[in-house]
Amino acid sequence: MKHEWKRIAADVLNASSRQHPADAVLREKLKVVPGLSADDARAISQAVFAAFRWHGWLDTVEPLTRLERAVEMAKVYAARPQCIADEELGTRAVPPWTTAHMAVSPAWLRAIQHEPHLWLRARAGQGTALARTLGESRASLVPALADAVKYCGVEDLFRSHEFHAGEFEIQDIASQAIALVAAPKPGQTWWDACAGSGGKTLHLSDLMHNQGLIWASDRAPWRLDQLKRRAARAGCFNYRAARWDGSTHLPTRTRFDGVLVDAPCSGLGTWQRNPHARWTTAPGDVCELAAVQLRLLTHAARAVKPGGRLVYAVCTLTREETEDVTAAFGAAHPAFAPWPHLHPWRPTQAPSSNHEFWPQDTGGGGMFVAQWRREG
Ligand SMILES: C[S@@+](CC[C@H](N)C(=O)[O-])C[C@H]1O[C@@H](n2cnc3c(N)ncnc32)[C@H](O)[C@@H]1O
Repeated sequence: MKHEWKRIAADVLNASSRQHPADAVLREKLKVVPGLSADDARAISQAVFAAFRWHGWLDTVEPLTRLERAVEMAKVYAARPQCIADEELGTRAVPPWTTAHMAVSPAWLRAIQHEPHLWLRARAGQGTALARTLGESRASLVPALADAVKYCGVEDLFRSHEFHAGEFEIQDIASQAIALVAAPKPGQTWWDACAGSGGKTLHLSDLMHNQGLIWASDRAPWRLDQLKRRAARAGCFNYRAARWDGSTHLPTRTRFDGVLVDAPCSGLGTWQRNPHARWTTAPGDVCELAAVQLRLLTHAARAVKPGGRLVYAVCTLTREETEDVTAAFGAAHPAFAPWPHLHPWRPTQAPSSNHEFWPQDTGGGGMFVAQWRREG
């Protein structure tokens, strides 16, 4: 690693905190370095994320040396994962409080110590064509999920013609599974209640062939502005954006065929792609967010029409934010019947009303999804 790269990466390490997550600091720093090549930017990002992924081994080492050693550890681990024992991973890869909230298995720990894959979502029915365009050596299809493409190339895809033409979105494969589970139909009305910058809104719209209507809401207007830019690029027109802060005052009186609550969460499922969060998330966040999730779900449920479906998703796997939230919601809402659906990666298994997606099984982030149908 050239000296200049190390200095920039070390600045990112020093400036990152709970209030200033490393991925955001990194984006800001890279934006203002003049003449930075895509290769250099990638090397800096990889070094920063390696430093947080291997933080449990190197936390006392000063930043420049930490970066060098983390890059080296990542290389050695990628080539020979068994060089680190399960017990060592268990004590160093994640903070000790994690085991009190979720099932921490050696397989999960091993998976999150690897660099994440880059996943693309091609437009509906276009996965094969996209993989062919990007080139067989760089892009491959995943049999389990329609139109999900794994990208192994090094080009900056944000500059590609295909990206600007709206031919694909960059979206983690587990996140892609959520809209597939929701399975909206063309012509239906859906509400993406925590739409953020629209990752799942765009996917729902694509599955609906741009027909019908999606209300996309979020409490952060700047995220909805991003959604509008992304929707314009993707040629998605069947949506309406509205602010919703999660209160009882819903953005519309419409009753929907489907409501998706992709709720804010502790994000433990993102700890592979976003290793800085391992060291900034606090155990108190888990209970606090579980209460927010139950509130959002309860309020949003009112907008489901009889016979319609309610889909709850979080990118975490803590018990409080998954089974506890769904049990509490189910107990308070007898009109909502658990709605069994297939596990996208295990279609031969009996359908279930909720599923966990684990990185070691899917190659993507960790996610949880549950589904109900409103009776009557
Ligand atoms: C997991 S993210 C959504 C990601 C998005 N669905 C996607 O696929 O790109 C959760 C979103 O919930 C929003 N949020 C947080 N608290 C909220 C609240 N009280 N009411 C409504 N939205 C909220 C956040 O702004 C964030 O965009």
